[in-house]
Amino acid sequence: MISEDVILRVKELNNIVDVISETVRLKKSGKYYTGLCPFHNEKTPSFTVTQDRQIYKCFGCGEAGNVITFVMKTKNLTYIDAIKNLAERANIVIDYNESSITDNSEKLYRINRDAARYFYYNLRKDKIAMNYLLKRGLAPNIINKFGLGYALNSWDALLKFLKSKGYTELDMLSAGLILKNNNNGYYDRFRNRIIFPVFDYRGKVIGFGGRVMDNSNPKYLNSPETSIFKKGTNLYGINYAIQDNKEKIFIIVEGYMDCISLHQHGINMAVASLGTALTTNQAKLLKRYADKVVIAYDADSAGEKATLRGLDVLKEEGFDVRVISIPEGKDPDDYIKNKGKDGFWHLVEGALELEDYKIQKATKGLNLNSANDVAKYADLTVDIIKDLQPVEKDIYINKLSQQTGIQNQALYDLMNNKLQKDGNNEEKVNRDSFFGDKYYLEPVYVKCERALIKMIINREDMEEHINKTLKEEYFISDKRRELYKFVCENLELNEEEITGLIESKFMDYETIEEWIKIREIKVMDKDCDNKILLDDYVKELKRLKLDQSKKEIMEKIKNYEAQGKLRESIELAQQLFNIQKQLDGMQ
Ligand code: UTP
Ligand code: MN
Repeated sequence: MISEDVILRVKELNNIVDVISETVRLKKSGKYYTGLCPFHNEKTPSFTVTQDRQIYKCFGCGEAGNVITFVMKTKNLTYIDAIKNLAERANIVIDYNESSITDNSEKLYRINRDAARYFYYNLRKDKIAMNYLLKRGLAPNIINKFGLGYALNSWDALLKFLKSKGYTELDMLSAGLILKNNNNGYYDRFRNRIIFPVFDYRGKVIGFGGRVMDNSNPKYLNSPETSIFKKGTNLYGINYAIQDNKEKIFIIVEGYMDCISLHQHGINMAVASLGTALTTNQAKLLKRYADKVVIAYDADSAGEKATLRGLDVLKEEGFDVRVISIPEGKDPDDYIKNKGKDGFWHLVEGALELEDYKIQKATKGLNLNSANDVAKYADLTVDIIKDLQPVEKDIYINKLSQQTGIQNQALYDLMNNKLQKDGNNEEKVNRDSFFGDKYYLEPVYVKCERALIKMIINREDMEEHINKTLKEEYFISDKRRELYKFVCENLELNEEEITGLIESKFMDYETIEEWIKIREIKVMDKDCDNKILLDDYVKELKRLKLDQSKKEIMEKIKNYEAQGKLRESIELAQQLFNIQKQLDGMQ
């Protein structure tokens, strides 16, 4: 038995969107994320994930659940093992005796902090390393602010230091600070490098980058992934960039040095992606603090496919995305050193909207005086804008029409052709889709039973009426009868509390799925009489039950008659008559 608290915490630390994103490609579309259902075969997405309710649901095959049941189903685990799996993912340890949890990451944070302090201390004692940074134009106060350090030119300096602090090799290995050699010995990962500690948004050290001081390779060496240093979840400089960011803007650069250099020049909203394409997780992290991002990447890398995909991710999270092109193949560090804060800010103000940037990039070199190029220009542009929101589309079509002299309607036709060709219905959730040739529809009684349970939870002033009208034997499904009884036994709890209790008491997929579907049902309309609604549902269930008995009796009568058992058959005919009377009375 796992306690409710543990389950709650496991769910809290494992966002369903992130967990499902690891196996299903999700696309944001309104308040849902949608994708191809992992539980049945389909070509158009019917599978939805709702971030604020932390549930998934497939309109194609009817599968539904929460983060725990998703892991159960896709990894083929028991309920308990799915919770263990998620606990591990979130780096927490469940204590089964106490049924409580402890955090494994504290030690990693501690060893990283101690290592960072050691590197910091080294830098202040090493003239060559310090001079390298000063020569690159960094001011001493900014070197301190970013906690820069130096890893000595030694195979085991850090190892010895951390040992003296009481850490084991295993601790250092799991923090990625040392490596194993062929003779089962250990050596420092970072040697003779400038050290850039990487902080998370709270200012905790989660990893390191180390730069050589000459032209050797690799230029930067980074900590490996650990349970606190995960690819694509953090941004360098975020801890400072979120401090009074009144403009609610982030400027995203690529490198450690770009980020630090912008901060030194008073541009405090700079963060660095550290040379990799942006992920949904990073976009979400940023979205907590700002609505606009300006991308300031090196000229050569900004147009690359992976980069552009990263920028689309920002757009999908709802950011206003602008892109700066830095002239003459320079990076932001070079540029701001030359032109100062004002020069750089000028670029920020002139940044292009993401689509304009893409269009400019794609249509470079085309001549709008040549008919051939005009057609190409339109084609390339339409390709870029076809997935925008309707209003945005309209704006771009207008602009394109003015630039090329092509009529709006012709451009729309071109766009619709393209959309049809790539079967681009991705945003539309495929609610009525066929699953093979089977249509997913639920029997009427299922809806009635769910609605009735939902009505008990949200009963308001109907308690008495419900007690009078509804009986447990009306339920046709055993599962829902069980849930009905459970709800009735826990009437003092609210919907959230009872959900927690159900998740910790019923540890099977079907109950959790059923509970989610009950919660999803919409009843209790302000504009209609809920008592009448309830009576209707009860009546429908009774009618279905009677119908069911009627069918059974008719079957029996047929059998008796075939066997010539007349007396039995007449007795049953009387029963049938009574049932029919009841049914007629219900019309
Ligand atoms: P850059 O080569 O643009 O580095 O790589 P930079 O930040 O301008 O560094 P300086 O000015 O030469 O010192 C951008 C980022 O890509 C990652 C680093 O995070 C770097 O800041 N990178 C680059 C690596 O991780 N490893 C490498 O070998 C190179
Ligand atoms: Mn640089």
